[in-house]
Amino acid sequence: MNNKEKIIQLHEIISNSKQLVAFTGAGLSAESGIPTYRGAGGLWSKYDPSKYADINYFMQDPSYYWNFFKEVRYPILKDAQPNAAHFALAELEKRGKLILSITQNIDGLLQIAGQKIVCELHGNTRKIKCLNCNKKFPMGEIYQLLDEKLPPDCPSCKGLLKPDVVLFGEQLPQDELNRAQQAAQACDTFIVIGSSLVVYPAAQIPVIAKSKGAILVIVNIDPTPLDGEADLVINMKASEVLSSVKMES
Ligand code: APR
Repeated sequence: MNNKEKIIQLHEIISNSKQLVAFTGAGLSAESGIPTYRGAGGLWSKYDPSKYADINYFMQDPSYYWNFFKEVRYPILKDAQPNAAHFALAELEKRGKLILSITQNIDGLLQIAGQKIVCELHGNTRKIKCLNCNKKFPMGEIYQLLDEKLPPDCPSCKGLLKPDVVLFGEQLPQDELNRAQQAAQACDTFIVIGSSLVVYPAAQIPVIAKSKGAILVIVNIDPTPLDGEADLVINMKASEVLSSVKMES
């Protein structure tokens, strides 16, 4: 089957679905200018994840992460806009097709595109949390503090601040994980968009959906370890695929 035929098949799958779940990764936001982690040009080819993405390293040397946030994460995120794939998912939700949008992304672009039912497995870097008093602050407010002091102090209690994201070595938010597992068990169609599916426990969610009889679709530029389980694999850009699927309810 060529890509055109695959997109027609995806359109039919979505049209017939009554309980659709989307599961997204960094590839969904790549066309919004936010670099992916793995693969060509990914963040990990430039920054050492065992330092900036690990909770134990963060607690030893928080300035490493905050430097990354100041020099890379915030400048990219502050102007990032949703792309056609985000808006297509928001449209599917608006038409009552999508029962849950599960994302590994921390960029908040799905909500900016208008999605209301979003499950953020790895948190959201637009919120900065104090590890002492648990207060949360918008990322722009804390960014302003970085010139005077790095790592920044909590404006309220001078405690240690950390973006409200799940670093390696931390537990995923249990309520979000439960929501995602329940939706995977209930859905009739599960669409993975832009994820390498190598990070657990997130990557277990599509396996749950498939084991419960859902149709599994993977839209990803590169191959993934679950391609052999999928009913349909489209190795194309997320925005090209999703914007080609006509949004009939
Ligand atoms: N459209 C579709 N797929 C794309 C696009 C695109 N425009 N651009 C890149 N991809 C694919 C790549 O082929 C790659 O397989 O998106 C995938 C992104 O994979 P990763 O960079 O590993 O991102 P992700 O799967 O979200 O990583 C999971 O790992 O680093 C941790 O917590 C972090 O949430 C992240 C988790």
